[in-house]
Amino acid sequence: MFGRVKPLDAILATAEKKSLHRSLGAMQLTLLGVGAVIGTGIFVLTAEAAQKAGPGMMISFIIAGVVCAVAALCYAEMASMVPVSGSAYTYSYAVMGELLAWMVGWALVLEYAIAAGAVSVGWSGYFVGMLAHLHDYASFLPNIVIPAALANGPTAGGIINLPACLIALAVTGLLVLGTKESATVNAVLVAIKITALTAFILLAVPVMNGEKFVPFSPLGFGGISAAAASIFFAYVGFDAVSTAAEETKNPQRNMPIGLIGSLAICTVFYLLVAAGVIGSVGAQPVMDAAGNGLAPGSKALTDACAAINGQAVVCSKEALAWTLRQIGWAQIGNLVGLAAIMALPSVVLMMMYGQTRIAFVMSRDGLLPEALSKVHPKYHTPHVVTVITGVFVALFAAFFPVGMLADVSNSGTLFAFACVSVAVLALRKSDPARHRPFRTPAVQIVAPLSILGCLYLFFSLSVYTLLLFVGWAVLGLVIYFAYSRSHSYVGRGIVDVHEDDADTPPQPVAPLPGGIELD
Ligand code: ALA
Repeated sequence: MFGRVKPLDAILATAEKKSLHRSLGAMQLTLLGVGAVIGTGIFVLTAEAAQKAGPGMMISFIIAGVVCAVAALCYAEMASMVPVSGSAYTYSYAVMGELLAWMVGWALVLEYAIAAGAVSVGWSGYFVGMLAHLHDYASFLPNIVIPAALANGPTAGGIINLPACLIALAVTGLLVLGTKESATVNAVLVAIKITALTAFILLAVPVMNGEKFVPFSPLGFGGISAAAASIFFAYVGFDAVSTAAEETKNPQRNMPIGLIGSLAICTVFYLLVAAGVIGSVGAQPVMDAAGNGLAPGSKALTDACAAINGQAVVCSKEALAWTLRQIGWAQIGNLVGLAAIMALPSVVLMMMYGQTRIAFVMSRDGLLPEALSKVHPKYHTPHVVTVITGVFVALFAAFFPVGMLADVSNSGTLFAFACVSVAVLALRKSDPARHRPFRTPAVQIVAPLSILGCLYLFFSLSVYTLLLFVGWAVLGLVIYFAYSRSHSYVGRGIVDVHEDDADTPPQPVAPLPGGIELD
């Protein structure tokens, strides 16, 4: 009914043959997840969520977290049952056929590449803020003000977001050179992020004032839904855990722990941080004269913020550092900013890795040109796909606002998550006897909830975002029918693909997000 399907047994046999060293345990997976998840979402988009929902963003964080939790439970079943690279794309190939798998892979390109752009822009906000407060970090340093025209894309009244563009190119360069964080560096960065968020919570929560929560929902439930659809970005990345399935010891046990554990840790932190922001400095949206919330990232909001001298958290591009400065903890605020500056590039790195990994698996299946997965003779990295990805990410980062990029990325992610949830249900029906090391609990409830939740958030995105998604999907279909369909290995009857070809990378997929060494 769904056309070409890559048999699950072939996928598993392929995985068996690869003899990758399985080195990751539950703890490392959880760290990997937390490392990929905590980033621009909480450090920056908290301000955008406030602009959309006001204090009601607490509900938005909960809604987005619940949707991620049910999606993660579905992911966990698939990831433990089909422990190979390619995450949602691979699962879909096995269960729903090539065309849908292609669409999922194509949507994942949107997820990872645009998310990398969004995190770069988030980093830029903190970096520009740090330069403006440089004197506070060390008294012998002068403050440096980057002109607004060079720190904002055109939609926010600037010309180019230069720092965002440069960090994306720098990360691309590191990836081409084969720079990898060691597991230790990943753990250190996770510790820095957790410490920064903990410090924020410890300082902001005690000065919370209940009155700041009123009015709770100034823009109604529509605002809460819109903020949930955007803040969903803060949870994206836990699926990076599932892409590491091939490198995981006892994936049957450790995958679900890694996925759900990292999500649980992040949710607790996010709720406390959001409560801290709202309760300490307030989180009411800036409105126009007619009482409508101004669009985040718009020139109108930039102008309105200039008129009030930036005295609202929704005006800040470094929401957490700004909040701490407001409540009298300027130095700690600066350190929290420094933590974001140090840690966010690794999130960019992981998103870009995710992108190259998906491209690898898709070209391994013949759906994308093999040239894309060419490996550099000296650095042994997939330099072609990395450079192409990097240039696009840098362009996105240079010219678009963080919220818009995050929303577009979310549209791809939500589509992919919904497909995985459908795949879980479909596989339970079509192949009920297959061994499932982890079974999604109450799958008849959880999977439909995940599908509905993803659809609800998807349609809570702005019309503009949805149109971009449709445009991307149409482009994907054109490429599929013009190229991929006729080049597909499965379509040509070659199920057991060329794992041993000379041009296959030494590792069958890009290095692991987080750079955990395999050998
Ligand atoms: N969840 C990641 C972030 O918030 C993508 O930056």
